[in-house]
Amino acid sequence: MAIPRDFINELVARIDIVDLIDAKVPLKKAGKNHSACCPFHSEKSPSFTVSRDKQFYHCFGCGAHGNVIDFVMEYDRLDFIDAIEDLAGQLGVEVPREQGTGPKRDEGLSRDLYQLMEEASLYFQNQLRQHNDKQKVLEYLTHRGLSNEVVEHFNIGFAPDGWDGLLSRYRQNQDAQDKLLTAGMVIENDNGKRYDRFRDRLMFPIRDRRGRVIGFGGRVLGDGTPKYLNSPETPIFHKGNELYGLYELKQRHRDPKQVLIVEGYMDVVALAQFGVDYAVASLGTSTTAEQFQLLLRSAKEVICCYDGDKAGVEAAWRALETALPLLKPGNQVKFMFLPEGEDPDTMVRQVGKEVFESQVNDAQELPEFLFETLAKRYGSDKGTLAKQAITLTEKIQDTVLQSLLLESLAYKLGMNSAEELKRKLGFSSKEQVKPLQKKALKGRGTPLRLAIALLVQHPSLGEGLPEQPALKHLKMAGIELLILLLDETRVKVKHSAQLLEQFRGDKQLSTLKKLTQWDHQVADENLQQEFRKTLIWLNNQYIEQRYQELSLKQNHTKEERIQLTKLISVIKG
Ligand code: UTP
Ligand code: MN
Repeated sequence: MAIPRDFINELVARIDIVDLIDAKVPLKKAGKNHSACCPFHSEKSPSFTVSRDKQFYHCFGCGAHGNVIDFVMEYDRLDFIDAIEDLAGQLGVEVPREQGTGPKRDEGLSRDLYQLMEEASLYFQNQLRQHNDKQKVLEYLTHRGLSNEVVEHFNIGFAPDGWDGLLSRYRQNQDAQDKLLTAGMVIENDNGKRYDRFRDRLMFPIRDRRGRVIGFGGRVLGDGTPKYLNSPETPIFHKGNELYGLYELKQRHRDPKQVLIVEGYMDVVALAQFGVDYAVASLGTSTTAEQFQLLLRSAKEVICCYDGDKAGVEAAWRALETALPLLKPGNQVKFMFLPEGEDPDTMVRQVGKEVFESQVNDAQELPEFLFETLAKRYGSDKGTLAKQAITLTEKIQDTVLQSLLLESLAYKLGMNSAEELKRKLGFSSKEQVKPLQKKALKGRGTPLRLAIALLVQHPSLGEGLPEQPALKHLKMAGIELLILLLDETRVKVKHSAQLLEQFRGDKQLSTLKKLTQWDHQVADENLQQEFRKTLIWLNNQYIEQRYQELSLKQNHTKEERIQLTKLISVIKG
């Protein structure tokens, strides 16, 4: 039984976020906003703000943000449906239900899984102190050079040998046993017999951003195979979305300047022990787009650290390809390579914090790594090299960054400009159309991004605006989002939170949320005017595109000829 969208919108519209939060976390008025010490991470000075205009909260420290529903979900640890029930209760209204295909309610399953995982983690930690075999584990830890402090900080534990160390703790509780299976802590064989997944292993708990244990990595105490056994995918653990050590890092640095991505659990732990306490590990796979996004949200600079051998360079290249489309101005992604056969764990033990950090500081910037790798691959074949570089550069969504990279490529190849480079390579064969007079825009970023940000932050800008048919034909990444937003705001003015609620579960939501916080630097009195300018700019973009398209065509239909003449007069005029 799904809850009707309209009802949810109604809730978001009727409950004031400042009142709601103030009742749980007393807020102080600070300028336009209200602020407090963030309830989602520990801090001494307030970086948590609530905006009455936008009906949104945002923490500049930990990045927590959202509307009234998100707040209740996060603060009271409720799932979506329970949060709706709670809010409806506050208004004294019943939650209506409609027949539908909406997501099935998961009966609070996740909450119990988290609880069980936490219990498992405590159990493993206790075994490290109490179990009869603890001596051999402590010896292994000494052998690996891990200090007591770091073992505590990462809550490292020990899963004893035997089939039911963990399982037997829930003898009387069938429900808990079933959930251990769901959580991947227990395996069931073909005969229906159940046993512990992790046996005789050193246990690394993996936490999500909120610090909840969601999975484990277990290392064999010696040379057995597999060296590491990891939790499988479960309802609460999706390894491509998580990073080992991120929570622990955030405990130490609320706002890290840089984050290092390494390959292994041991690397994260050893680095932290030696004072390089800003490393995380992707969980045994190449770094995914989700993981990069997570990191770039936490820190401006991300350094990917690899072994210097062939496999390491290949892994770095995959990371580069994943990172390119995500880059924004101000982001830095760098690459560092260790001598063959070393990993960060062995390295930092050999050279110490200072030397290791000087290597981090010398990491190669992304464009350098890109050009150098292509140069190695294609040698003196400048044409292929440039074509490959351009193809890669075109993956960058951010046009400012993209043109910077192209300019520097042109320069490296001894040409005057990116235009010349592209022309020589036949990327745009016909003579260039002179760009339309583009009025300088006062805000930052690309006009499209500015348009979306202005509209998300001030939905009334879209009210009563005529439809923009040209935008529907404009070929530009991200334009559909603007069209959707224009449709949403045209008829009924909504505030930001209500607008965003339309996008819950949509993959565009995180972009939108970011743009809600983005400082567009347009003064209040210029909002209307600057927003109109972005629309004019986009319409002009379409005119140029259509002109290009038609002028490249050989045989025109009559309509096309007329259109072309019109376009030429618009462009010349
Ligand atoms: P490594 O083989 O480099 O191990 O694997 P490591 O982290 O240096 O560990 P030590 O120093 O030998 O103890 C890097 C990462 O790849 C994943 C794990 O996440 C590991 O940390 N991995 C490796 C597995 O998942 N399974 C394996 O069998 C091996
Ligand atoms: Mn290692």
